[in-house]
Amino acid sequence: MSVLQNFIVFEGGDGSGTSTQLELLKRRFGKEDALSPPVIFTFEPTDGAVGRLLRAALRGEPRLHGETMTRLFSADRAEHLYGEGGIVEAAERGSLVICDRYTLSSRVYQGLECGDGLPAALNGGFPAPELLLFFDIDPRLALLRLETRTQKDVYESLDFQLRVRERYLGLLDSCRAEGSRVVVIDASAPIDAVAEAVWQNISLLPVMPRQRGSCIASSMKKAIN
Ligand code: TYD
Repeated sequence: MSVLQNFIVFEGGDGSGTSTQLELLKRRFGKEDALSPPVIFTFEPTDGAVGRLLRAALRGEPRLHGETMTRLFSADRAEHLYGEGGIVEAAERGSLVICDRYTLSSRVYQGLECGDGLPAALNGGFPAPELLLFFDIDPRLALLRLETRTQKDVYESLDFQLRVRERYLGLLDSCRAEGSRVVVIDASAPIDAVAEAVWQNISLLPVMPRQRGSCIASSMKKAIN
C-alpha cells in the first residue's frame, strides 16, 4: 500500500464528532487569510449512487448481508478515489483532500460483521492517507450525543460501539506500519479544544504554507455514474 500525500482522513466511532469537526475545519480554512492550497472536504459513504445505497442499508432498508456491505463500501471507495475528479487526482495535483471515514472504517465495522479477511483483501490495495486523525471517545458519551437523532443507523448500539472502539485502537499501529502518521484526538474534550487540536495537526502538513492562510474550499464531485 502506498501513501497518498495531501490526503487526510478523520476516523472514529459513531457520535465521535468527525462530521462536526470537518465542518469547523472548513470554516477555519475560510477565515485564514494568507494563501494555502485548495482544500476539498469529502466523506464516505459518498453521495454517489453506491454511497446512497449504503446509507439506505445503514438505516436497515434494504437489509444487506455484511459481505455485500463490505463489497459496496469498497466499490464506493474505488469510485471516490479513482473516478473523475476523484481523491487521487485532486491530491496529486496539490489539493489538500480531507475525508470523513475511509478504509479503516471498513476494517473496523465490516471486520466486526464478517471477519477481517474480506475487508482487508478489498481495501489493501487502496492508498493510505498521509495523516489519520482518530477521534477517541467513550462510546457511552458518543451515543448520548446521538440521542436527539430520530433516525438510528444499524451500528448505533452500545455493545457494537464498544467493540468498534476496541478495534480502532487495536488497528492504529497497522496504519502506522502502512506509512500514515496517526494522531489520537481526545474527542470528549470541549468542541473548540478538539477543533484546535485538529487545526494544529493540519497546519503542520508540508502542503500548508508556513504562514497560515485561507484557501478555496470546494466541494468534491462524488457522483458515481
Ligand atoms: P457516519 O460518518 O457516522 O455518517 P452520519 O454521521 O451521516 O450518520 O457514517 C455512517 C456509518 O457508516 C457509520 O456507522 C460507519 C459506517 N461505515 C462502515 O461501516 N464502513 C465504512 O467503510 C464506512 C466508510 C462507514
